[in-house]
Formats: sequence, structure tokens, C-alpha cells
Amino acid sequence: MSGHLHAAPEPSATVRTPGKVNLVLRSGAVRDDGYHPLSTVFQAVSLFEEVTATHVAPGAGISLTVSGPQADVVPLDETNLAWRAALAVADHTGMDADVALHIHKGVPVAGGMAGGSADAAAALVACDALWDAGLSRQELTMLGARLGADVPFALLGHTAVGTGRGDVLTPVLARGEFHWAFAVQAEGLPTPSVFARFDELSADDPAHSPDPGDDAGLMAALRAGDPTALGEALHNDLQAAAVDLRPELGRVMEVAREAGTLGTLVSGSGPTVAALARTRRHALAIAAAWTAAGVADSVWTATGPAPGARLTG
Ligand code: C5P
Repeated sequence: MSGHLHAAPEPSATVRTPGKVNLVLRSGAVRDDGYHPLSTVFQAVSLFEEVTATHVAPGAGISLTVSGPQADVVPLDETNLAWRAALAVADHTGMDADVALHIHKGVPVAGGMAGGSADAAAALVACDALWDAGLSRQELTMLGARLGADVPFALLGHTAVGTGRGDVLTPVLARGEFHWAFAVQAEGLPTPSVFARFDELSADDPAHSPDPGDDAGLMAALRAGDPTALGEALHNDLQAAAVDLRPELGRVMEVAREAGTLGTLVSGSGPTVAALARTRRHALAIAAAWTAAGVADSVWTATGPAPGARLTG
């Protein structure tokens, strides 16, 4: 081969995927498989993970690097969901699992915003593109659901109802743009511990099923693009468990209320606290109130809904 060809950059594919907040999360009692039946409404927000899959020599195997905020606490081995996603695409297609993965993080780590699931979704789409595997959205979603309950939503994005483990999705019509502020804690909360605490707290009602609740108000608020009505409809069954494990989260939500939030809740299994704001300026004001009160290790603002997995390069 000529020197010119050697100097060319290796082929690569870059995919962007969003983090999420659960607008409503209702959970039933733990199933035999260790999962909880959920009835949830996801909204993707404009905090993005970016995964680049780059061609490497045959036999080189998988390698992984990470950049961005909190990159130092992300595992760089086969326990990383992006690594496992590359293996899943290779297994499913019969391709050799030779790829260099790079994750640029934009979603809080272990924060209840599905950053790891977003990495898995992005790696699935990036490897499919790099290897020209031609997998359908349906196949990618099936592989994603095996990797984690939140992975299918990171592929889909926007706003969707999730049932089953949260992986059976139905898109929801939402109008307009909602403004969010997020209070992030340096120390994450493992999702299994929050669900375990939830089980303990609901032990007096062992057979409870995920109350479908009355989410008509929430759906109407989304359709109308009405942030005030949406703020009133926010609800998370896991919140009491997360606050029980991290009592300081109560104060985080109180500060958001003092700053006039339209509604505040723990995001997913926490410990990130989400606050819905009237405008972008208001979201910045809530974030500033958290910083002034010293109740968050970092504060982030974003808008929702945001698109799902997208090839960007
Ligand atoms: O699917 P994923 O690996 O993201 O889930 C992490 C953990 O969260 C599960 O092992 C389980 O303990 C808990 N979980 C659950 N019910 C769900 C989703 C997650 O109990 N619907």
C-alpha cells in the first residue's frame, strides 16, 4: 500500500445519545427475575453522550477510552456497557469484535439519568455503522434491551411511555420545549440499592402492582406544551427510597421550590434531582440557587425532549 493510504485516518463512526429524566415512575413489587414492573414516562434531555467507534487492525480486540466530566469514575473494561454493546453486535452479526471505542460523557455518571445506557445505545449504533452490519432499529432495540432496561429508550429518545422493565416503549406526543435544571451529586447511587430500599419501604404491601395512576393530566400537559401542568404531574415512586438513602436530597428539592420550580423530583433512581423551570433563565436561576446553597456537587441545565441515537460523524 502507498504511504498516502497509510496516512489516511482510520474509518470511524460517531453517535450521539441523550440522557433522560422520568416524568413519572411507578413501580410494582420485585419480580422473580429481580426486575420491577414499571409504568414510566421518559423524557430525553439535551445532555448527550457521544461514542466514537474507530476501525483497528484485525485481532486487536476492543479498547475503550473516556473523556468529559467524571470520566475518571467510568470503568474501562468489559464491565462498561459500551464495551458489552460492541460484543453484542459482534456476536449477533458474526463480525470480529475489533474496535477502539471512545466515550465523551455529557450525562452525569450513576445519577439516575441513564448515562451508561446511553453509552450502550450509542455503541450499538456506532459499531453497526462502522462494521456496515445493516442491523434494523428493531434488532438494535432487542440487543439494547438485553444490555439494560433503559437502553431502548436511549435509542428512541423524545418522550415515551415505558412498561415492562421500562424497555417496552410507546412514543408520546409532546409539544414545545421544557426547561430543566439538574443538581448532580459526585457520589452516585447504585440503581439496585434504590430498588432494594423501595422493596423494604413497601414491604407491608408485597403484592402491589405498578399503579397506572392517573396520568391523563401529564399526557395533556405534554400535548399542550404546558410546563405548569407538567410540573404538577411529576411523580416518582423511587423518590422516598432515594431520599431515605440520601436524606440531603430533601433539601435539594426544597431549594428548588424556594427558587420557584414548577415541579421537582428525583431523576430515576437518583441521586440527581431534576427541577422543571418556566424558561431557560429560570432553569439557570434554580441552578444558581443550588450552587449558592451548597447542596449539589455540580449543576446542569438542559431542555427536553431531545432526539434519540443519531449518527453525527
Ligand atoms: O437493566 P439495568 O441493568 O439498567 O438495571 C439495573 C438494575 O436496576 C437491575 O439489576 C435491577 O436491580 C434494577 N431494576 C429493577 N427494575 C427495573 C429496572 C432496573 O429492579 N425495571
